[in-house]
Amino acid sequence: MPKIDASDGSLNALTRAVYENQHQRIAGDDTAFQRIYDIYENAEFGIPAGWWSGKKALDAGCGNFGAFMLYLIHRGPAMVHGVDLGTSWIEKLSASLAARNVDPERFTLTSGSVLDLPFPDASFDFVAVNGVLVHLDSMAEIEKGFAEGARVCAPGGYYFTSYGPCGGLMMDAIFPALQAYYRTNADFHRFIDTVTPAILHDAIDVVVAETKKRMGLDLGADFLKPLFHEDFCVFLQNYIQRPTDFSNECTPEVVEDLYQRNGFTTVVRMNHFVKRGDIRKYFAPLHYHADHPVSRVLYGAGFVQYIGQR
Ligand SMILES: C[S@@+](CC[C@H](N)C(=O)[O-])C[C@H]1O[C@@H](n2cnc3c(N)ncnc32)[C@H](O)[C@@H]1O
Repeated sequence: MPKIDASDGSLNALTRAVYENQHQRIAGDDTAFQRIYDIYENAEFGIPAGWWSGKKALDAGCGNFGAFMLYLIHRGPAMVHGVDLGTSWIEKLSASLAARNVDPERFTLTSGSVLDLPFPDASFDFVAVNGVLVHLDSMAEIEKGFAEGARVCAPGGYYFTSYGPCGGLMMDAIFPALQAYYRTNADFHRFIDTVTPAILHDAIDVVVAETKKRMGLDLGADFLKPLFHEDFCVFLQNYIQRPTDFSNECTPEVVEDLYQRNGFTTVVRMNHFVKRGDIRKYFAPLHYHADHPVSRVLYGAGFVQYIGQR
């Protein structure tokens, strides 16, 4: 996938700014927040419920809405630590967790990079680097970031890393084309940066009214609007605004090799069902049937995420 030229060192700031806005939308939209929270509730981490008591967890690259931190806090560990770039996210994440009734004593938030985590070796029983590594600058950085997460994971601890959809029509062709157009076309760039459900619903209204006027036909399109809500807008931004994207390079083989080289013996690829309410609900179940020819063509190697234990 093409990436922007951020050779002046601005990549971190750009990535953080892009996600700060997207995460604020998610923090302010209970449907989007809950959908993402439910991903973790429905995922099979393979960790016994009683394991968490007294444990220390790290969410490296936690972002500023906190669905995964909330999931971790609800498991009942002694402390959950969040790390991300810069400091402007800290107040926002604190507010999002406070709005969801989290006791501030249950977590800490620290500025830092996954390339140089500000913690001693083996500090945590559970480490997550969730949707972060694919946004780094190179495969060399991805290896370094992976090794940093592994370094702070204690013997016997769990290491969860998530990369995203890998290959297929969506990631090999459609999203790279949309990303390239976003970078070169000012109108599309502005549209994606400001897209709201209202704009999309208005377009549906125009189509319905125009069809009625010119063809005397009722399109029966009422079902369409609920398929294009806030969560869909954030999805568009998430996949189109990203400054870099190494999702296609982070294949199952590459990630399994990273776990092996960093000393993880038990490594399990996770598969999760995401309950969606927007247009994607018509496609999401195909993720569960990776060998179906349509799934294979659309999603290639599928969603890549693993949990390993030392
Ligand atoms: C797609 S968001 C994922 C956020 C969160 N982990 C989640 O799954 O909802 C990517 C996050 O990675 C963070 N990030 C990117 N590069 C990073 C780095 N070098 N160190 C720490 N965080 C980084 C971004 O600031 C952003 O919050």
